[in-house]
Amino acid sequence: MTSTSNSTPTFAVISGGQVQHALQGREKQIVKLAEDTYRLHSAGDSVNPPSYFLRFADRPTSRIIALPASIGGQIKVDGIKWISSFPENVAAGLPRASAVLILNDHDTGYPFACLESSIISATRTAAMAAMAADWFSRGRQRPKRVGFFGVGLIARYIHTFLKGTDWSFDEIGVFDLLADSADGFRGYLERSGAAKQVTVYDSAEKLIRSSDLIVFATIAGEPHVHDMSWFKHNPLVLHVSLRDLSPEIILGSTNFVDDVEHCLKANTSPHLAEQRTGNRDFLQGTLGDLMAGTATAPADRPLIFSPFGLGVLDLAVGKYVYDEVTRAGELNVIEDFFHELKRYG
Ligand SMILES: NC(=O)c1ccc[n+]([C@@H]2O[C@H](COP(=O)([O-])OP(=O)(O)OC[C@H]3O[C@@H](n4cnc5c(N)ncnc54)[C@H](O)[C@@H]3O)[C@@H](O)[C@H]2O)c1
Repeated sequence: MTSTSNSTPTFAVISGGQVQHALQGREKQIVKLAEDTYRLHSAGDSVNPPSYFLRFADRPTSRIIALPASIGGQIKVDGIKWISSFPENVAAGLPRASAVLILNDHDTGYPFACLESSIISATRTAAMAAMAADWFSRGRQRPKRVGFFGVGLIARYIHTFLKGTDWSFDEIGVFDLLADSADGFRGYLERSGAAKQVTVYDSAEKLIRSSDLIVFATIAGEPHVHDMSWFKHNPLVLHVSLRDLSPEIILGSTNFVDDVEHCLKANTSPHLAEQRTGNRDFLQGTLGDLMAGTATAPADRPLIFSPFGLGVLDLAVGKYVYDEVTRAGELNVIEDFFHELKRYG
């Protein structure tokens, strides 16, 4: 039970193991949840202020981001994701990102759970990517050749979600600057039963030219793909890492984002395109516009979807996990967490 105004508030801690158990194999359900949540957000039934970036002069490649949010509808929960990105972790054998999610009760504001959230974050990112791949391929031939550009944890989750939502591919291309990453991802693909179709490319150009659906999940801080001719076959691009494509490529393509104000910030490629042109004319709309039928996605240009990633999705997935763990009777409540509850002692 979450805290309410007439009962003693409780506080639970949910481990990564519990989160994974609640989400594993539920790709279709989670994509549906992401879609419902994103529709609520697009309809204005959310509060999703800009993410706050904490950066460090002594650790310039690292950051910690706060994503406060509130979502309405049936979910009705507030909260905040606090997520670190320390890219040097990977060489030391630790994942780049680590995170917690705090859920706050809608009626009392009391925090009622703290969840391990690197899995929740990767899950909602992959769910959004799979949902976007589906919506954006409705007006064009459904891609049969997928290319993963940058193959860490997020690429693995996106592949899992594409597969779990009935995508099948004739060819799976892989490109990464690090041979270890490409090998690791290939190993994952082999274990997932996709071994026969896999090609590891030794150049970015070859991967892009060989793929109709391209997933960018690098950690590039500034654009490193500049050549528009690589995209002349008009692929669908899920630009999840947000900073890979030069403004020229953005300007030569049809562009969609998840949320305009969020995405045109923090030197993302669409933000650089806005700085270059002084306007937002290059934006066709949001995925929400496409879903509502107020924007169309022409198939005669490359289509780039740049999702900034919304805190409301973390909340929805986090609340789903909380409910599942509660239903299973496995909620680990911290006794006496809220202690000073009588006003005058
Ligand atoms: N938009 C969103 O909602 C959202 C959400 C979560 C993560 N992300 C982003 O996804 C990206 C990937 O995250 P991750 O956890 O998988 O990281 P990771 O460190 O596990 O993997 C990144 C991989 O990209 C490779 N890489 C880096 N630069 C490259 C380049 N120029 N060309 C080719 N490969 C390159 C690295 O070698 C590494 O294997 C990050 O940028 C992260 O910020 C976006």
